[in-house]
Amino acid sequence: MSSVKRVHNFNAGPSILPVSVLEKAQSEMLDYQGCGMSVMEMSHRSKEYESIIQTAEADLRELLGIPTNYKVLFLQGGATLQFAMLAMNLRPAGASADYVVTGSWSKTAWKEAAKLGATRAAYNGESSNYSRLPAQGDLTLDPQAAYVHFCHNETIHGVEFKKEFEVPAGVEVVCDMSSDFLSQPVDVSKYGMIYAGAQKNAGPAGVTVVIIREDLLARTPEKLPVMLDYKILAESGSLHNTPPCYAIYIVGLVMKWLKDLGGLPAIHKINLEKAGLIYDAIDSSGGYYHGHAAPDARSIMNVPFRMPSEELEEQFVKEAKKADLIGLKGHRSVGGLRASIYNALPVESARVLVDFMKEFQRKNG
Ligand SMILES: Cc1ncc(COP(=O)(O)O)c(C=O)c1O
Repeated sequence: MSSVKRVHNFNAGPSILPVSVLEKAQSEMLDYQGCGMSVMEMSHRSKEYESIIQTAEADLRELLGIPTNYKVLFLQGGATLQFAMLAMNLRPAGASADYVVTGSWSKTAWKEAAKLGATRAAYNGESSNYSRLPAQGDLTLDPQAAYVHFCHNETIHGVEFKKEFEVPAGVEVVCDMSSDFLSQPVDVSKYGMIYAGAQKNAGPAGVTVVIIREDLLARTPEKLPVMLDYKILAESGSLHNTPPCYAIYIVGLVMKWLKDLGGLPAIHKINLEKAGLIYDAIDSSGGYYHGHAAPDARSIMNVPFRMPSEELEEQFVKEAKKADLIGLKGHRSVGGLRASIYNALPVESARVLVDFMKEFQRKNG
């Protein structure tokens, strides 16, 4: 495949996938393992598909060390549907839920839940334009809350929790891990529920992974529409209706790729290396490049940064694109630039970006 053009892909999601995964999917496109059809064309009730979805789940369980008392669901509707769905399922009538608001995504999750019942912001970092994370003492957690929700990595603001915070006994922790899912080892047993849209580290858009402790399924109220009911979806092994079959198949291939690489400790090391290269380039630029996130909150997945003027930022994005460095324009709420450096991005691409940054500064600084 060496003659095929591949850019340095810094897209925030959907984003880069491992070349070997794409090649495997390509090789199985017309005839999946002797079936004479692609995975897109087979019944989700077939023996072959059952094996695909079950293997994807088993490999995910192995990679994350998911305890046996947790269910894994492959759902549709994106992480955005989870914002509402988790509130519908996990917050009993009359109860309140706490939200740790550290950026756009946790804020959106909070607003969605607030439409449906009582919420509190246990922390809101808006005044710092979400450039830092709370210390334990900054959180005002309600010991009666049905759960506390937080976002492990804010994709737009580039802040990422480095360790879990303490919560009052009996309060469940619910976490949006969409943009740093599978980027590092995680102790799943500390969470009541973890969810993640696949389209950053786990696969293509179209499937959202939910990992939920079994006893929490008892909270699901009666008479929820079936596609919003964790209990029913869990009981059917994500096969209550037609699942996003092809997206789950690609997730399965990504899990194999991660396992072959050495699992989450191995990919974490690679991710730290890539992030280190880019943050070093920012820190050694004499202020020409300026990271949005406070140094102790820096994400190893999304690196938003600014330059001395918007004109230079625009020029940077344009010239970078010409050099096949794609997806570097920042989100409009932070402005500037953002390098998303997910699992599948090779270290070489981070090096090319750093060289480009240095050269750009030399010519324009
Ligand atoms: C942290 C985080 N949460 C939620 C979402 C929303 O995901 P989706 O577009 O799958 O609904 C995103 C999307 O980028 C995200 O980065």
